[in-house]
Amino acid sequence: MKVIKKVEEMQQWSESVRKRGETVGLVPTMGYFHEGHLSLMETAGQMCDHLVVSLFVNPAQFGENEDLDAYPVDLDRDYKLAEEKGASVVFAPPREEVYPERFQTSVALASLPRHLCGLDRPVHFGGVATVVTKLFNIVGPQVAVFGAKDFQQLQVIRQLVKDLNFNIRIVGNPIVREADGLAMSSRNVYLSTDERASALSLSRSLELAEGLIRDGGKDAAAIRAKVVELITGFDHTAIDYVAVCDPDTLEDVDSVTAPVLVALAVKVGTTRLIDNRVIDPAQ
Ligand code: PAF
Repeated sequence: MKVIKKVEEMQQWSESVRKRGETVGLVPTMGYFHEGHLSLMETAGQMCDHLVVSLFVNPAQFGENEDLDAYPVDLDRDYKLAEEKGASVVFAPPREEVYPERFQTSVALASLPRHLCGLDRPVHFGGVATVVTKLFNIVGPQVAVFGAKDFQQLQVIRQLVKDLNFNIRIVGNPIVREADGLAMSSRNVYLSTDERASALSLSRSLELAEGLIRDGGKDAAAIRAKVVELITGFDHTAIDYVAVCDPDTLEDVDSVTAPVLVALAVKVGTTRLIDNRVIDPAQ
């Protein structure tokens, strides 16, 4: 496995692979791998001749009071895990390679970022869209795999690929969970033992929402209220949002008559966790 740090070298590597008629599957990451990342790598590796894992903690997607400096890093462990998953390349550029002096372009979407996480994190999706656009241009993959835990991010990327005519297949991988239901996240390491127990409120409340909808519940406000009640019944929790919305537009719905996205962001202690589930009332 090669570790590439320079944009030009990455582009040359991809060019030579393309000339041989071989395909590249990209898994963009910010590192500190857990099972969720490894499952994205497995999917991309199975779909393409070469797996490229990018590893870059993107400052542009962190707001001023967010945890950029505290973001966990363990490069040697990550390189080893990516190699075990069969990666041909880990692309791990330093910041100045991605954002050189006088960098001034950004990619902005009009409406998807205005919902859910975008409400509290106004710069986040612009930062994601910009860096992912750059990664697509640098790595030139045929396939890129993202986790469905970041559902809004996945929709933002699907939209930008469509809008900017990238010839890249975007694959959304199912959420990977701990045995007790907690969605895997690099941020779970910040949870104390008590907070770890309270973090289960997210997956439990999605199960509750699913049960209510399957039992014929249609009133989105009532479903939302039950979810809020369950989460706030746990210690250390503070809700950022609970949404029952259209999975494509992310607009809130009043009535559940078609598949809905139930999406949550909850601070458990100081750690902000997200989770979601698409629930089809017809199933
Ligand atoms: O999901 C992430 O880890 C990041 O948002 C991504 C897609 C790698 C862009 O920095």
